[in-house]
Amino acid sequence: MSKLNIVILAAGAGKRMQSSLPKVLHRLAGRPLLSHTIETARALSPEKICVVIGHGGDLVRQSIAGDDLIWITQAQQLGTGHAMMQTLPSLSDDAKTLILYGDVPLIRAQTLQTLIAQTKHEHCALLTATTADPSGYGRIVRDPVTQVVQAIVEQKDASAEQRLIQEINTGIMVICNDHLREWLPRLENGNAQHEYYLTDVIAMAVSQGVPVLSVVAENFSEIMGVNSKRQLAELERLCQREYADRLLDQGVQLADPTRIDIRGRLNCGTDVEIDVNCVFEGNVRLGDDVKVHGHCVLKNVSVAAGSVILPFSLIEDTEIGESCKIGPYARIRPGTRLSDKVHIGNFVEVKNSRIASGSKANHLSYIGDSIVGTNVNVGAGTITCNYDGANKYQTIIEDDVFIGSDTQLIAPVKISKGSTIGAGSTITKETPENQLTLSRVKQISIAGWQRPQKIKK
Ligand code: UD1
Ligand code: CA
Repeated sequence: MSKLNIVILAAGAGKRMQSSLPKVLHRLAGRPLLSHTIETARALSPEKICVVIGHGGDLVRQSIAGDDLIWITQAQQLGTGHAMMQTLPSLSDDAKTLILYGDVPLIRAQTLQTLIAQTKHEHCALLTATTADPSGYGRIVRDPVTQVVQAIVEQKDASAEQRLIQEINTGIMVICNDHLREWLPRLENGNAQHEYYLTDVIAMAVSQGVPVLSVVAENFSEIMGVNSKRQLAELERLCQREYADRLLDQGVQLADPTRIDIRGRLNCGTDVEIDVNCVFEGNVRLGDDVKVHGHCVLKNVSVAAGSVILPFSLIEDTEIGESCKIGPYARIRPGTRLSDKVHIGNFVEVKNSRIASGSKANHLSYIGDSIVGTNVNVGAGTITCNYDGANKYQTIIEDDVFIGSDTQLIAPVKISKGSTIGAGSTITKETPENQLTLSRVKQISIAGWQRPQKIKK
């Protein structure tokens, strides 16, 4: 029996999150909790993945992508055993089922593979863990002599003696579908919480002589669940530390592995350096020798070899070429492509623009909906006026243009090759190539002019 089904339980309300958002949609490392479990489930290549939803089910379903998922609604949350009952019609014959949880996001595929490998047709396998503080968890009760698992007892139903047991139920288990079909309908809810406990099937297995095997999770963080914002924050740090360690192991130099946040995927070449408090979202690719200085936010960005991002820069949906210098305090918005050796300096905003190699906008400018050629110098305070209040228009700046400071380019407009624009100009018409164009009142002086005086009341 090699077929594997996976069930992910995700119907609970998560009251302790104190939020109107269903618990499994809260984000860990930028993705919903449930997405983490689903990704791990997929890594095991199961025949099918069933997700049990209930509280906020419609929203959960809309928020999580995947045609490969079988959604099962548990209208009332009457316990983990009741949740599993709802999956029976969807489970395959001649398969075993791995049960996972939408709020236990850090479980590793490797650990699960070890657990699955234990389970032959006539076996059940439990993932357990030991902890000095087992409160809240179900306890694993073993025969004192043989050490064979006898039952799982929930905290609320446990005797004082059982509460001292430090081996706990992670909730993650593998059971053959034949057994699930036989045992789940026999569950009763005569317990402290009046719930149908999935954990009660273990005692059923034992009474029928079905061996219950167990694997102890090596790493407690893998089995930690999220019940509160506090626990979510704790897992976030654990998760981030793991990502940081992975980067360090790949040779990325992090100024401080506890001060980096990756909310997506960060792919780095060799000799990449990242200073403190940078946030990477979506897909970010940093080429060889790229340096990202402190306090930068990069979302869906690729940066080619040798480029430097100076402090406090915010860059989204942008491609940056080789040997560029960006920031400090640069804002680069979606749809931007910078070729090689481009400089974007402080308080420069670029949106939906292509800037060719060697061009510079070093201070206080807005470049929007523009196509900029090679070796262009955009002076301080240059604004592309791309919006007339209703529509957006394009600005074309050809190669070797020099734009003097404090210039407005009223789009649509073209600044032709080799043009020089005098400082303080408002350009509304296409400029001729290789000429100086300026639109400025000639400097005059008025003799005898008086400054206005404050009127006395
Ligand atoms: C459960 C286990 C406990 C274990 C602990 C590990 C049972 C009876 N107890 O307890 O032994 O130590 O997990 O964290 O299984 N859910 C549903 N439908 C329901 C009830 C729960 O989908 O009707 C889902 C929840 O969304 C959650 C998971 O099942 O993801 C666990 O439910 P929860 O009520 O948190 O179980 P615990 O009391 O923590
Ligand atoms: Ca409970």
